[in-house]
Amino acid sequence: MTKTSLIFDCDPGVDDAIALFLAFAARDEVDLLGVTTVAGNVAAALTARNACILREIAQREDVPVAAGCERPMVRAPIDAGHFHGQTGLGDLPISTPQKGVEAIHGVDFIINAVMSRPSDTVTVAVTGPMTNLAMAMVKEPRLSRRLARIIAMGGARSEGGNITASAEYNIYADPHAAQVVAESGTPLVMMGLDVTHQVRAAARHIDAIAAIGGPVSKACVNLFGFMDRTEKALASGGDAPQHDLCPMAYLLAPTLFTLRPCRMEVETSSPLTSGHTAVDFRHRDSPQPHIKWAISADADGIFALLTDHLSR
Ligand code: BDR
Ligand code: CA
Repeated sequence: MTKTSLIFDCDPGVDDAIALFLAFAARDEVDLLGVTTVAGNVAAALTARNACILREIAQREDVPVAAGCERPMVRAPIDAGHFHGQTGLGDLPISTPQKGVEAIHGVDFIINAVMSRPSDTVTVAVTGPMTNLAMAMVKEPRLSRRLARIIAMGGARSEGGNITASAEYNIYADPHAAQVVAESGTPLVMMGLDVTHQVRAAARHIDAIAAIGGPVSKACVNLFGFMDRTEKALASGGDAPQHDLCPMAYLLAPTLFTLRPCRMEVETSSPLTSGHTAVDFRHRDSPQPHIKWAISADADGIFALLTDHLSR
């Protein structure tokens, strides 16, 4: 089986952490070229450190971590610390990781990794604001044609928003970057709230992961517990959605999702609706064929996939 060459661009973040553990565990299917981090849920220095902590727990020090942009392209930074805790990792014990970040900036890491490999061989998964990827596309205009595809968590159509009435956090945090990526022409799979709100960690899913045992299982249970309490206190009152798990789950098992081709533009100017993803399934005669929007997911299948990989 040919492995997928992957760059994982993220802002860990409690749900990014679960997705990263899946990426670290998928050794048979994924050649994880590197993890790049960005300012988002918490400040850039913390997301980079958190990625190193998670890498250490997963014993994947072979994977480079490169710290990227410290602020969005245009708008002022906005974090989501209320959903991720002060450290960005909820209640997870924080220690200084043995191995730190690479000397290279995350944007240059993406450019070098993609441009030094053949066209259409590198996938980028994005689970934070799209700043690093958009900046890489601006700095190296050949990048978008060279990338195989992007699988991103972001946006909302039927679900409205989770940071404002009409915007999802990752897009709201850097709408200009999201628009650069949407316009790039690179094949793009969008996992928005419409689908991530279907993927909620129920007690039976968490119990199955707890039964695995070991440091990664223990960390996941800790993170799920924090997300559960936060979701119940501050958001829907139900089980916690695993937004960032969706891109990795799609990469490993695309049949767990249903997608529709769409046109998508990002609102970048209106103060009221900034970060809104205008997703249009019409215009079948002239769709933007490079964008696909996820509309449904098999949640039990996704958690079974996670449990299976973490058991390996
Ligand atoms: C997204 O926002 C962040 O807070 C989460 O990590 C996820 O990437 C969900 O809207
Ligand atoms: Ca995230």
